[in-house]
Amino acid sequence: MSAVPPLGTAHRHEKGRAGRFVTFEGGEGAGKSTQMRRLQQRLAERDVEAIATREPGGSPHAEALREALLGGKAASLGPLGEAVLFSAARIDHLDRLIKPALARGAWVICDRFADSTRAYQGARGGVEPRLIALLERVALLGTTPDLTIILDLPPEIGLERARQRRAPDETADRFEREDMAFHEGLRQSFLDIAASEPGRCCVVDALAPEEEVAQAIWHIVEARFFRGNAEQKTEQASA
Ligand code: TYD
Repeated sequence: MSAVPPLGTAHRHEKGRAGRFVTFEGGEGAGKSTQMRRLQQRLAERDVEAIATREPGGSPHAEALREALLGGKAASLGPLGEAVLFSAARIDHLDRLIKPALARGAWVICDRFADSTRAYQGARGGVEPRLIALLERVALLGTTPDLTIILDLPPEIGLERARQRRAPDETADRFEREDMAFHEGLRQSFLDIAASEPGRCCVVDALAPEEEVAQAIWHIVEARFFRGNAEQKTEQASA
């Protein structure tokens, strides 16, 4: 009866969608932004236009919600209320930036997406999986990532990295301030998501040196999106 597509459907055939949608997930300080920049650069070398964006945020309304969510103003709503706001921000981000970019053939590389809601508000915040899944369905309406890179590292190292990169006058955000048990649980939640959707998610060891992490990510992207083309071209050339 429902016109809403089932969760987890890869929307290769979604009307008007031509670009690839890649998301980066993981705990605090895992190096997502550095690795996103590096991937964007490698794609540019292949003449692929890739837009880097982030959640919460990525569009003007979503950035306004980001302030409320990360500043802690929305914390009194509780995890379900926060999940609703993260989803509202996601709808705006999808409508104004992600879907139009994918439709014109650009790639979109996004720093956090729906898996963060599953992990932070769902598994860690205690919002029932059924409700998280419903919200995700409503927000995404089928625009699921083609690939999700999960950068994995021990939380004590990630939090220390996040602390070091903060400006002296900047304070830890609402989620960085959670205790170590929260962050340990978060790491496990991302690993559980990866195990439940191995076709979409790849876990990369983020403890390795930056260069090695970048190589590992590139191998995954190449194998998934370019190798077929390269093989086709080789076959055509040898025919
Ligand atoms: P950000 O400053 O972008 O940090 P990070 O480098 O860790 O990505 O902060 C985003 C924070 O918001 C982060 O602590 C995770 C949290 N978050 C959620 O709790 N739910 C969500 O759906 C999203 C997208 C982010």
